[in-house]
Amino acid sequence: MRSILVLNPKGGCGKSTLATNMACYFALLGRQVALADCDVQGSSRDWLKIRPESRAKIMGAELINNELHIPKATEILIMDTPAATHGEKLANYVRNAHTMIVPILPSPMDIRAAEHFIHELFSLRGLINRKIMIATVANRAREDTLVAAKLEYYLDKLKLPNGKRLPFITMLRASQNYLYAAERGLGIHELAPSKTCYDREQWEPLLRWLNSSRSMPS
Ligand SMILES: Nc1ncnc2c1ncn2[C@@H]1O[C@H](COP(=O)(O)OP(=O)(O)OP(=O)(O)O)[C@@H](O)[C@H]1O
Ligand SMILES: [Mg+2]
Repeated sequence: MRSILVLNPKGGCGKSTLATNMACYFALLGRQVALADCDVQGSSRDWLKIRPESRAKIMGAELINNELHIPKATEILIMDTPAATHGEKLANYVRNAHTMIVPILPSPMDIRAAEHFIHELFSLRGLINRKIMIATVANRAREDTLVAAKLEYYLDKLKLPNGKRLPFITMLRASQNYLYAAERGLGIHELAPSKTCYDREQWEPLLRWLNSSRSMPS
């Protein structure tokens, strides 16, 4: 089983949006997908509840007493996590994943917070003691703004304290399509292609990365 973690301690950066959309994408490919909502807020859980029966099946993985109960058939586990995840809790999530996506909003504060987060993550490597492939994704970007351009510039340069580059995969625009899909328990890849072609294009680099060996620890 492969596990993909979506994590950034900053609230509202798009963790649940990315987690639910990734789950849909893999389910559409015919994979056995489980979505774990580790956040008491339950955005992904609520989304799964309203997902139409007629759509590609996504299973739920339950977090009970800090233990994740994953359906046996699961091939791909997607973990949506709460905001303000730090320290031991953060290390625990990372320890249980192969791949990690860090969504970041295009604001100077969010970029700085992401830098602190990357440093915290690096400082926990002794605790984690396992290889994980990490990448950043810019989310809710208004492409015409200077801040979005700056974000792209900084994310492209984001490095771990050991000098290793952190791959910046793609920039997802702010789009009503995400809200429309979220309200219906759907993903962007399940909406009309004519209305979502631009969003699908922006997802392509992320899907390519997820489907490549670059996102899997050797
Ligand atoms: N690309 C986008 N375009 C438009 N709206 C978006 C986009 N991404 C996320 N949103 C909206 O922004 C809000 C926050 O997104 P989301 O809930 O995914 O963030 P989160 O990181 O999971 O938040 P939390 O930290 O509270 O769990 C939601 O209303 C979501 O629908
Ligand atoms: Mg969330």
